[in-house]
Amino acid sequence: MMGGAGHIPARVLRREPAGEGVLRLVLAPVGAPGFPAWQPGAHADLVLPGGDAAGEPLVRQYSLCGDPADLSEYHFGILREADGRGGSTWVHDRLRVGDEIAVGAPRNHFPFAPVAAPAARTLFIAGGIGITPILPMLRQAMAEDRDWRLVAAARSRARLPFRAELAALPAHRLRLHCDDEAGLLDLAGLLAGEGAGTTVYSCGPAPLLDALQSLAEDAPWQLRIERFSAQPAPAGRSDRPFEVVCRASGKRLRVPADKSVLQVLREAGLRVESSCRDGVCGTCELRVLAGTPDHRDSVLTAEERAEGTHMMVCVSRAVGDVLELDI
Ligand code: FES
Repeated sequence: MMGGAGHIPARVLRREPAGEGVLRLVLAPVGAPGFPAWQPGAHADLVLPGGDAAGEPLVRQYSLCGDPADLSEYHFGILREADGRGGSTWVHDRLRVGDEIAVGAPRNHFPFAPVAAPAARTLFIAGGIGITPILPMLRQAMAEDRDWRLVAAARSRARLPFRAELAALPAHRLRLHCDDEAGLLDLAGLLAGEGAGTTVYSCGPAPLLDALQSLAEDAPWQLRIERFSAQPAPAGRSDRPFEVVCRASGKRLRVPADKSVLQVLREAGLRVESSCRDGVCGTCELRVLAGTPDHRDSVLTAEERAEGTHMMVCVSRAVGDVLELDI
């Protein structure tokens, strides 16, 4: 069996082209009738054996894009990123039908919320491969007869992934936008008429999500996003040391400027699950019992950050001199 605690052995059932540079990877569980249940917006770790230069497994997160009602298969849409961190090229170039890998239990930091009012509207904005977590949301939106629209954007028509799925959607709810035909997507214009009853769900490249976040600051509509990669650190930011009090284990640890909380906890023998170590997957989340976190992740919402009750210890630090954690 591949992988560590909480990982599920899985076999590659199919590899199918799903657009330029995009592969639909279909996995089946090994030794179990089905995979764990999941909800639209969830992602899971793929544990890719011998994936890095030292022969250690690569662990990468990908959104589940199949049907949550069918647990006999997990579907992932994976864009080959030649300049990425190696996970997508490993899947594209080395993973074959019949190979066994491991999958982590699904986690969801991009949940598709129930509609708040009968007149509520849902606007999906997908940038390129960002369509993957949105596909199962579309299925649910149609099953619940919601008022929804999808704008699927890409640099060119060839780079729109999952074209067959998009072509099967009701045409009056779908807008395809290709930059090479129509220029950059006019987000401000697109959202100009939306009111408090609209929730925007978006996933895609950082510039798209950054622009939406800045528009949302003064907008009546709600925004929910999922990032694939960490936001860059603000220019000129420097880290300072602080202390972490671990209430459950009774340890008091110093976090130097050049180490993360996660590193320090691990070095002290404390077990903390982690995966991306980049603040995007949510695996290393710990409860904050006292002190104020300096949030640097791309997982928590603005409200969750303001509450300050949880933090991603792989990247986030402390505002003050001491943080107390539930570990
Ligand atoms: S390990 Fe992924 S957010 Fe910390």
